[in-house]
Amino acid sequence: MKAARFHEVKKPLRIEDVPFREPGPEELLVRIRASGICHSDLHAMDGVIPYGSTPITPGHEGAGVVEKIGANIQDLKVGDHVVLRFVMSCGACAPCVQGTDNLCKKLRFLGFEENGTFAEYATVPSRHAIQLPNSISFEQGAIIGCAVVTPMHAMNIARVRPGSSVAIFGLGGVGIHAIQMSKIFGAAEIFAVDISDAKLSLAKSFGATYTINGSKEEAIDKIKRFTDGTGADFAFEFIGLPITQTQAINSVKRGGTVTLVGIPRQPLNIDLKYLLTNEIQLRTSFDHTRAEVDDVISLVETGRLDLSKSVSHKLPLEKVNEGIDILRNNTGDPIRIVVVP
Ligand code: APR
Ligand code: ZN
Ligand code: ZN
Repeated sequence: MKAARFHEVKKPLRIEDVPFREPGPEELLVRIRASGICHSDLHAMDGVIPYGSTPITPGHEGAGVVEKIGANIQDLKVGDHVVLRFVMSCGACAPCVQGTDNLCKKLRFLGFEENGTFAEYATVPSRHAIQLPNSISFEQGAIIGCAVVTPMHAMNIARVRPGSSVAIFGLGGVGIHAIQMSKIFGAAEIFAVDISDAKLSLAKSFGATYTINGSKEEAIDKIKRFTDGTGADFAFEFIGLPITQTQAINSVKRGGTVTLVGIPRQPLNIDLKYLLTNEIQLRTSFDHTRAEVDDVISLVETGRLDLSKSVSHKLPLEKVNEGIDILRNNTGDPIRIVVVP
């Protein structure tokens, strides 16, 4: 099969012909039909987060069709459409049993430690494949598994309450879905912050109340101004930069909650005294749980979550490096770029 393979840090992926692995008794062979390119892939390709072993096939936001099933598989059949979960939990340890499988003691990551979805086929344990209704396209299914479910987990971590004001920093493939998710969680006011006017207007169309271009305006001042000088109830950071993490912390009211989601490339200096004396709750959110993927699928299926504008670019697998460059340089306002093997 054709696959895009990582060999070396900061080098393009290589399109190669490699054999696919036959599925074991508990596994599936999935014909990948769409795979999203995520900023986490860039972090790994740049050496910020390590791959398990190399060479490896990256790609962790995939959807496709079950092509072959292992002898013990009963819940899925050949021809079923599936979303692949990159959070590969064991299902048996205490965190898994308690529903926090993103904190599994034996956690492995598809596309980082196991060969992923930038390929024609992926072989995965069937418990990491979730049935996708045929009414949802493969490209939307692909991004559900990371870009869309990550903000849902973050909102669950923050415990966003109906009627709240919410500030979202970063409207990329992940953060843009936090706008609709805030509405679903009942937010009354949503502040959307980015440096791209195109992403800000998309956020507005999804229900952002106020948009702020961080390269032209003072985000904290504007959020304070529109909240009677107090700040937002909740803030989320979906970029991973110290500057926007600090802005998020400073944009909430006393007693407000800040949730950091973007993977940091550098350490953050935190003014703990400011946090403590203002009783600001600082939280972190890591990936998602299986139940949250089911919830997202239902929201899309019932039309409460609109993913029709989420995929901005569709490229053949052979052009995956072109997609990676678009995302890295943030040119042409990419929302999610999907490759089709
Ligand atoms: N201020 C505001 N917005 C910014 C700034 C800034 N200083 N710098 C970058 N941005 C915006 C970009 O314009 C872009 O819209 O942040 C967004 C980042 O989006 P993507 O590159 O699409 O990244 P995404 O895939 O959404 O991932 C975001 O979440 O899961 C993690 O690893 C992932 O750390 C990454 C983060
Ligand atoms: Zn991702
Ligand atoms: Zn586990």
